[in-house]
Formats: sequence, structure tokens, C-alpha cells
Amino acid sequence: MRKNQPIARSGRTSNGRNGRKAGLDPVTGAPPRPAGPGMYLHWEGRRGYRTRMPAPRVLDPLPELSYGEPGGNRVIEGDNLQVMISLRSHYQGTIDIAYLDPPYNTGRNDFAYSDSRYNDPNADADDMVYVGNEDGGRHTKWLNYMGPRLWLVWQLLADHGVCFVSISDVELFRLGLLMDEIFGEQNRLGVLVWKGSIENNATQIASEHEYVLCYAKRKERATRVWKGQSEAKEWLLATYRDLTKGRRRVNVASIEKEYRAAIRAHVEQRKQEIAENGESDLVDLGRAARYRHVDKRGVYAAEDHTDKPTGGYFYDVIHPVTEKPCKKPESGYRFTEETMDRLLAEDRIVFGKDHQRQVQVKKYLADVAEPLRSVLTTPAKLGTGSLRKLLGPPAVAQFPHPKPVELIEQLLWSTGYDDALVLDPFAGSGTTAHAVMRLNASDGGSRRFIMIEEGTRDDRYCRTLLAPRLSTAIEQEELPGGFTFEVKGRRLNRGAILDLEREAIANLIIHTDATGKGRGIARVGGLSLRRRFGWLRCGAFACCCGHLASFAS
Ligand SMILES: C[S@@+](CC[C@H](N)C(=O)[O-])C[C@H]1O[C@@H](n2cnc3c(N)ncnc32)[C@H](O)[C@@H]1O
Repeated sequence: MRKNQPIARSGRTSNGRNGRKAGLDPVTGAPPRPAGPGMYLHWEGRRGYRTRMPAPRVLDPLPELSYGEPGGNRVIEGDNLQVMISLRSHYQGTIDIAYLDPPYNTGRNDFAYSDSRYNDPNADADDMVYVGNEDGGRHTKWLNYMGPRLWLVWQLLADHGVCFVSISDVELFRLGLLMDEIFGEQNRLGVLVWKGSIENNATQIASEHEYVLCYAKRKERATRVWKGQSEAKEWLLATYRDLTKGRRRVNVASIEKEYRAAIRAHVEQRKQEIAENGESDLVDLGRAARYRHVDKRGVYAAEDHTDKPTGGYFYDVIHPVTEKPCKKPESGYRFTEETMDRLLAEDRIVFGKDHQRQVQVKKYLADVAEPLRSVLTTPAKLGTGSLRKLLGPPAVAQFPHPKPVELIEQLLWSTGYDDALVLDPFAGSGTTAHAVMRLNASDGGSRRFIMIEEGTRDDRYCRTLLAPRLSTAIEQEELPGGFTFEVKGRRLNRGAILDLEREAIANLIIHTDATGKGRGIARVGGLSLRRRFGWLRCGAFACCCGHLASFAS
């Protein structure tokens, strides 16, 4: 094994001095860190990734790059470690959803690493270089980069918060073990596979997918009902909507005829495309095509779910045409006679052509809850497509691999948190913020976002791409929202505070007050500050000083 390569070690999980006691860390509330014998990931730098943190910075708003009514939305330019630590006192325990799309460490100029920033997290990282595959310490460097960032994300998450991390197979295994350590294996919600492309390279396993690791801060507090989307369901409902749109009266028989014809034409066209090209972009209706009936309530399937395996109810259901009792399920009906009467009165029972057949029950497509399935199939090209549409081809040349907005919409929506505060510390072209605004537009939610992006030395695309993308999307797609653009400023210490304008001090107090209500007051600070800012309300002032004491570095 090469020097500096991480190794999987054996160890017991513990937070006790002698490695015996397993429980949450009394200070941070984090799951215990494994140590000693047992099985966990070890690498050079593991000891310090939770403590080697930069000093908080002042975050300065730039009105000329901000847009519209921010409503709590923030776009922040800077290193995400330095920015997250600056946000911590205000946002700790408040983020509902974090989405991370970090560099995958492919060796192809995606992961830039700075030794000087590793040694001094406050450094500006002028020595940043891309890590190549020939670098024997590349995985150690990646872990030392991801460790502190994930640790801060964990701290920022609310107890019910959920964290999604995109990754390829290069760092999948190490990321999984790192997240197991930070979040606790018991809080792993699952691993999603995102199949976004088609690869025809026959010289290796044709890789067509990536992963999204999903963890909860505390699984028992996270959402109980995950919402999945079915393209087939959406297609069928949309087809029915189109057929009934604008009609004053719904003639059920003729709508059903047209609806079935539309399904047949769609299935036929898809078959033909696959025969000709080997693939088709048309939605695969699969088993959903059995929702081929309509009535005035909508689209439904006739299901045989009227029987009970044992101990059912026996009574007669009279066929409306032959006026004879319909064939009964062998072990009886699963509904009581009273319930059956109600279902009949509500027109929710389907009869066969005569009484020789058992009755069926209507299952409406709109009522079908789709689970969040572990394989997501959103075409990757939708990502470049929406960027190109908004800002033209140069934007795609500048940022060739944005995630599809639809993919991030699906992740955010699946949690059911429609008022979520969403954090994306690797914001790139701003896909997550775009997804937040689109979702709000479609379901009336009140989600907000915090985007952090550093850009590169040569291109600060937080301002050249991300901000213009969001403002253009708001205008072109008529999305609700705006944002404040901020830049990472001076280190937050006594000198920096003494130099601030009144307005900036007020902002600082608001941002450093952990309660956000002016009540997070731990202790009263030094006299010189009090004299200088005597105009401030004492409570707010004390709060500021209390936090500053902990910030001073
Ligand atoms: C894979 S891209 C994210 C793409 C994004 N999801 C999208 O759809 O546009 C990773 C981004 O993280 C940014 N990044 C990397 N390290 C960072 C750091 N330390 N602080 C802030 N941003 C960083 C990179 O500049 C890059 O834009």
C-alpha cells in the first residue's frame, strides 16, 4: 500500500475514555467516533478534521450582484469551509436539506487542493493545484478536504434534516465510510443511483450512472413518507387533463375512447423508436398503462382487490344488467356489507360483463403514492439544456456538467419539506437554487436557499455564471424569489468589528445570534465595545460579544 493512502481499520465505536461507552457525544450530540479495534476508515489527518477550522469571516453583501426580493435566499462567494463556519452560529441546527455535489476526484482537473489551506484553514489557497491520478495521496487529500466540510454540514442540519451527496464510484466507498462516521450508520437512509447517460465504450464497463448518498441527522426525526415521482403517472394524468381541458361537460365514454387511443399511439411510437434507434426518450408507461379507464373523478384501474384471503364477508352484490348476484370471492369480500354499499353508491365498484365475474374496485391514479425509488433516470443532458436555454452556449462551455434541475427538484421534493431551508455548499452553476425556485413555483412552497461557491482562480463563476443564471431564470421562467449576493470578507475579530459600519454591525449581531431572535445571549462583553457601540440595545450587544468571545482566534 502506498504511503498516505487511507486504510480501513478495525475499531470499537466509543466516546468513552477506555473505548467502552457507546452513546452520543455529550458536547456535539454526534454519533460516537469509532476508535481502537473494529472496522472504520483511517487516514492521515483523521484526528484533526473536526477541529482544524478557520476563523469566521464577515460576509459582505454586494447589492450590485443581488437580485429581487431575497426573502432569506443567499448566494455567498467564498471557500465553503470558511463560509459555513461564518454561518454556524446563526444557522446551526436549522438546515432542513443539504445537497452536496463535491469534486469527484476523478484526476481530470475537478479537485483542486491546497496544502497551505490544509495546514492553515484561514489561508487563501494561492497554491491550489488539481490533484491527478498519479498523486499517491489523492484519497487522503480528498478525505481531509471533505471531512471538515461534512462535519460542518452535519452541525448546520436540523434534527430532522436530510443530507444528499452526489458522488461517482471513485470516492464512493470512502465517502460512505466517512458519512457513516459523521452521521452514524444508523442514520443512513439509502443510496440512490442516478442513471443520467448512455455510454457505448466497449473497452471497459460502460458507466452510465452516479450515486447519491442519503443520510439523516437523526433518522427517527426525518421525514416518514418519501415522495417519489413516476413519469408514467405524470404522463397519464397530463394526457387526461389535456383531453378534458376546456370541456364544460365530460362525456366519460368518448373521453375514455380518446384516452385509450392516446395510450396506444404512445406505446406504438415508443416501440417503433426503440426498434429503429435502440432507445427512446418517450416515457415508458410500463404497468401504469393499466390505468386505462376514466370516469368523472379521473383516471383509474379496475383492481381485483375485493377479496380477503381468509375470513371475509359474504353477501350478495347484484349485477346491474343481469340482476343476479355476482360471483363471490372464495373466502368472502374484504369489505363489510355496509362499506360495499357505500362504494356502490359512490360509483367505485366495477362490474364485469355479467354476474359470472367478480366485481372489482376502482383505484384512482391520482391517489397512488409513489415511493422514492432507488434508481433515478433523469437525462444528464437536461442540465446543459437548461443552462444553454438561459444563458446561451458560452455558459455551457464555461460550466460543462451542471446537474439537471429536474434531478435536484426530485431530491428536494421527495422529502416533503415544502418550507425547507436548503444548503448547497458546492453550488457550481446554481442548479439547486434554480430547483428550489421551480418547486416553489409549482407547489406554492416557501423553500429558501443558501448557495456557496468559490469558483476558480481564473473564473469567479459565482458572479459570472451562478448569479446571472438565477436572475435570468427568475425573469424568463417567472419564478418567485430573489437573493442577496455576499462575499467572504475580513476575518471576524475585534479589529474587524471595530471597523464596521453601524448597519454591518447590526447584520453581524443578527447573524451571530444563535436564536435569530436577539435572545442568544451568553454573557456580556468588554467595556470598550460597549462604550463604542453604546447605541445598541444591551441584549443584542451582549449576544454579539458572547459569540465574539467564541470566535476570537
Ligand atoms: C461538481 S461542481 C457542482 C455542480 C453543481 N451541482 C451544478 O449543478 O452546477 C462542484 C463545485 O464545487 C465548487 N467548489 C469546490 N471546492 C469548493 C470550496 N472549497 N468552496 C466552495 N466551492 C467549492 C467548485 O468550484 C464547483 O463549482
